[in-house]
Order: sequence, then structure tokens, then C-alpha cells
Amino acid sequence: MRTPFIAGNWKMNKTAVEAAAFLNEIKDELNAIEGVDIAVCPPSIAIPAVAEALSGTKIGVGAQNICGAESGAYTGELAANMVAPFCQYVIIGHSERRAYFGVVDSWVNAKAKIALAHGLTPIICCGESLEQNEAGETQAFVSGQVKAALDGLTAEQVASCVIAYEPIRAIGTGKSASVEQAGGIIHDSVRVPIAEMFGDETAQAVRIQYGGSVKEGNIAAYMSHPDIDGALVGGAALKAGFVQLVANAA
Ligand code: PGA
Repeated sequence: MRTPFIAGNWKMNKTAVEAAAFLNEIKDELNAIEGVDIAVCPPSIAIPAVAEALSGTKIGVGAQNICGAESGAYTGELAANMVAPFCQYVIIGHSERRAYFGVVDSWVNAKAKIALAHGLTPIICCGESLEQNEAGETQAFVSGQVKAALDGLTAEQVASCVIAYEPIRAIGTGKSASVEQAGGIIHDSVRVPIAEMFGDETAQAVRIQYGGSVKEGNIAAYMSHPDIDGALVGGAALKAGFVQLVANAA
């Protein structure tokens, strides 16, 4: 029932020119892969060039962040209505934004609401640190992040959201979480809390990605877990091997 969804998070990589050149190289092959939704999330200044390069394909475009306010005195931020003409998705609350840019749960919630109001699908990120994991705090922390992010949304809105569970120790380290561990946390700390807040039907509809050192060689194993509906891919989304990764997911 849930269409798998692979999103590439390019982080602070590729200029607009490099982004368009890369996509021109891979887009036809990527576009031909069936049975999976695909998106790339470039740096904001490359978004228009990426949207143009991908026009006429089914490959979606996502922003990496938006402001939690509609407009005004927020130096350095981008409003939802500025990215919405080019994008279908927006990553919200990535652990790097939480760690380096002070994004807190209440902002994540505001950003999710404003994204939905502008027709953007939020990819809401959550995930615990190694210390929290070892201290046995994963369930409380991750379910707390999810509940805070979704507070005040309708069940219908939540069903349309994407959640990305990314254990911080696994991001960019090559130390991906085991399928059993990631799938178990996604079930217990993401899907079950959503069921408690919004009902079973909503929890069964929402797509939950795993993220953290996903590669061509391990994506199929993640996809085999019944609770994992795709991946948010960082480093492996920057190279032509992303096509094979998506093909392996499908
Ligand atoms: P990674 O990043 O695939 O490079 O580990 C994932 C992410 O941060 O979304």
C-alpha cells in the first residue's frame, strides 16, 4: 500500500551548474525506475536549476529547510511560498540542523505546518545520538521528537507526511544501523506513537524512511523490513551509483 520513497539529501554539495550537469547524466535512467517515488534535495540556490533539469520527469525536488514563519525579518531563511513553486518536498528537522543551527522541536512543528499549508510534503527527521542509544533513551527521545513534530496536525495531514528515522551515529559514518535495530525503532518509536496519536489507519499510511549510511549494497535489506518504506540518502546520492541504489530499492 505504501509506495517506497527514496530521497537524496545532497546537503551542502553541488553548485547549480554541477547539479544540473549531474542530473542530466542520470535522470533518464532514474526516471525509468518503476515502483518507487524518487526525489533529490539540493542546496536552496540550486533548486530552480534542478527543477528545470527534472521537468518532464517523475523525479521530485525537495528543499533541505524552510522557515517556520510565513515571511518577515528572518535573515538567511527561505519561506515555504518561495520554494513551493519548484518543490514537492522539504526536509525538516534534520539532525545537522538541530545540532549546528539550534533547530528545536517547536520549530520543527511550525515548519511542518507551514510546509503542509503550502502543499509541500514534509520529510520530518528524527533520531537519537549514540549516547542516548546506549543509555536506553531511544524510545522516549525519538517518540518525543515525533509527537512534538506532529502536534496539532490532522490525521489526514500526518498520513501525507514522510518521517525519516536517522540514528545520528549512522549519518555519514558508514556505520549503518542493523535492519532489525532500525526497523524495530521505526516500529516502536515512530509508527506506534503515531498510531497512539492519530489512529492505526494513519500510522499505516505514513511513510517512514531509514537514513544513515544507506548504499547500493544495503538498501534492499532495509526495504525488506515491513516498517521501512524507503530511505533518506546522503553521501550515496551524490554519485551516479544513486541510480543503482534506487533500482535496488524498487
Ligand atoms: P548519509 O546521510 O547517507 O551520508 O549517512 C544521511 C542523511 O543525513 O540524511
